[in-house]
Amino acid sequence: MSFKRNIIITGGAGFIGCHVVKLFVDKYPEYHIINLDNLTYAGNLANLRDIENRANYTFIKADICDFDRICKLLPEYRVDGFIHLAAESHVDRSIKDPFTFARTNVMGTLSLLQAAKLYWESLPEGYEGKRFYHISTDEVYGALELTCPEGMSSEFTAHKIYGDDFFKETTKYNPHSPYSASKASSDHFVRAFHDTYKMPTIVTNCSNNYGPYQFPEKLIPLFINNIRQRKPLPVYGKGENVRDWLYVEDHARAIDVIFHNGKIAATYNIGGFNEWKNIDIIKVVIKTVDKLLGNPEGHSLDLITYVTDRKGHDLRYAIDSTNLKKELGWEPSLQFEEGIEKTVKWYLDNQEWMDNVTSGDYQRYYEETYRNK
Ligand code: NAD
Ligand code: TYD
Repeated sequence: MSFKRNIIITGGAGFIGCHVVKLFVDKYPEYHIINLDNLTYAGNLANLRDIENRANYTFIKADICDFDRICKLLPEYRVDGFIHLAAESHVDRSIKDPFTFARTNVMGTLSLLQAAKLYWESLPEGYEGKRFYHISTDEVYGALELTCPEGMSSEFTAHKIYGDDFFKETTKYNPHSPYSASKASSDHFVRAFHDTYKMPTIVTNCSNNYGPYQFPEKLIPLFINNIRQRKPLPVYGKGENVRDWLYVEDHARAIDVIFHNGKIAATYNIGGFNEWKNIDIIKVVIKTVDKLLGNPEGHSLDLITYVTDRKGHDLRYAIDSTNLKKELGWEPSLQFEEGIEKTVKWYLDNQEWMDNVTSGDYQRYYEETYRNK
């Protein structure tokens, strides 16, 4: 079967990747979507059950660091685009095991870039019609000041903001955690491949995502699951850190718009204009879970447990995504209250998914579904 485009999406079995894969498979039947994922602890093919038998979808279990294998796959599938999400993504893990982050995030990205370069440069048309789109994080910019701890109103958003400054596309990189340092390094390699070889690259830096299918080591799904099980909710430090939260499907929509219409060599910041102190978002999650479980209001507040702060914990992240809105017309579609209710409801309605993840059963899905295909 011949397709209009053949796009590798790396990390498609992870949290954000599965939303991007599903969006592209549904919206573009004329594209072949190749999900290349190594199925680490964070990869779960059950996230893709809805589309796994579609004619325009292929799953390949491969490590992005396996340069020789990637080099063979590109001509085999005549790949003309990458949307690169595969990464080690959890800050706490990076503090314990930075090597894995350097390997996957830096060497893995370099391996894809070099394989793409060799393949695309070997074609008569070269880089024409090709695109290497790298998904990154706002954490590369470091941390912003919390100049207004009580929060203030803003012309941009219905919610409060906690400082005068925002991360813009021009903000200097200043990563603090091994995770953000590895992502910063990978971003530099992507830009270097444009500047040196004229590879058509794009980089986007996005704020914290929330929504269905997030691995329950991250704040929101971990806390939803703990509340349901009446387990303690470990709040790092004083819970004063601020994050800018974006619903995952809005991120996937931004990726679609930018992959198709973004300028080559550009950087776009993607954010929710939706700043929350951790302790406040935790209270919203508690309230929503209690409401949906039929508990009296305030029932689970006693689970809040202040614990030792994360090492090097960045104080505040806040993205200015006005450039993306002006240039490509993208903005978040969901108000936070709506997004968090949808999210909590999804986790409560999909208890089997959560149980499979927490028990480790999800890792058997590949063996059962794909082994003999
Ligand atoms: P995730 O941890 O949920 O998923 C990562 C996926 O990558 C998994 O499916 C995993 O199996 C795969 N993977 C890991 N190492 C691999 C390797 N060596 N080879 C092939 N596949 C491998 O991550 P996520 O939260 O979906 O994040 C996706 C991307 O978006 C990452 O690059 C992350 O830095 C970036 N990002 C995430 C957020 C967020 O809030 N989650 C925000 C901004 C940017
Ligand atoms: P997380 O979901 O790990 O995302 P990131 O570190 O990439 O922002 O954490 C979000 C915020 O919540 C961050 O400030 C750390 C804090 N946090 C807790 O207080 N307790 C927890 O158990 C976790 C996982 C996070």
